[in-house]
Amino acid sequence: MPTHETTSHTSSAERNIFDLLKQDHEKVRYLFDRIEKSGRKATASLEKLFAELEEDLEIHMDGEERFFYPALEQHEEARDQVLESYEEHMVAKTMLGTFKSLAVDDERWSAKLKVLATMVEHHLKEEETEVFKVARKVLERNQTLEMAVQFMRHKREGRRPSRGASVAE
Ligand SMILES: [Fe+2]
Ligand SMILES: [Fe+2]
Repeated sequence: MPTHETTSHTSSAERNIFDLLKQDHEKVRYLFDRIEKSGRKATASLEKLFAELEEDLEIHMDGEERFFYPALEQHEEARDQVLESYEEHMVAKTMLGTFKSLAVDDERWSAKLKVLATMVEHHLKEEETEVFKVARKVLERNQTLEMAVQFMRHKREGRRPSRGASVAE
């Protein structure tokens, strides 16, 4: 494993996949909170925050589906939880797609946002409790470190270069 993989975002090579996923979850919560606290008329800010939320969620879910869930899925005791997680991702992705036809100052936009926030929070919480619990049990320590390296690389590659500076990093 090349050593440069962990150097750009952290000085510690010891961060495991749980630390990284939890950090992403916190950022998603922060963005939902900022959006919910913004007035409906703050359209430019809402658009920017939502674009960041959407991108972060997509990259996060994609990373989990590529590097976290497949390893877990092989363990019988984790299987049901993982299958449920894939379904929840699908619902979130489908919902994200439905925002495209609406303006951020449309009243349906905020209604939709609330439903998405509730649904995503349910998923994050379940992941942090039930999925992480079974994952800590079935995954080897070096697997959780290796996944962290792969996940960080995925995030770097997944981030669209055209987007402006992040609002929360
Ligand atoms: Fe997830
Ligand atoms: Fe997650």
